[in-house]
Amino acid sequence: MMTKIILIAAALVFSGSALAGDAAAGKGKAKVCAACHGEGGAGMSAMQDFPKLAGQYNDYIVRALKDYQSGARKNPVMAAQVKDLKAADIADLAAFFSSQQALAGK
Ligand code: HEC
Repeated sequence: MMTKIILIAAALVFSGSALAGDAAAGKGKAKVCAACHGEGGAGMSAMQDFPKLAGQYNDYIVRALKDYQSGARKNPVMAAQVKDLKAADIADLAAFFSSQQALAGK
């Protein structure tokens, strides 16, 4: 009986953490982003219009991506990037970029 309760509790914890995003999965999904945001979101000195994402707060990245999707934040370049992202993709990308160390521009 006790084991059953523990297993259910563990399952709930795991399903909850899935929503928090998986940085390892996000790393793969972030390859396309590197073209503009630099490796790991570190930015690129030649491209000052492309913001750094490394070390940005998780919530801020999620919010920005959802706002580009909804049109609340308007940018034609980013609108094209986010149109096919699912909520889980956004969570994974945010987990990845927020876990990267913010570095001085290269
Ligand atoms: C073709 C270039 C390009 C690609 C590829 C690209 N971005 Fe962007 N991104 C931009 C530009 C330009 C902006 C600034 C837009 C603005 O002013 O709102 C931006 C802004 C953002 C912001 C908001 C940053 C801030 O400081 O407010 C986030 C988050 C973001 N991008 C995430 C991503 C992710 C995740 C990917 C990959 C799925 C990606 N971008 C791919 C060009 C790109």
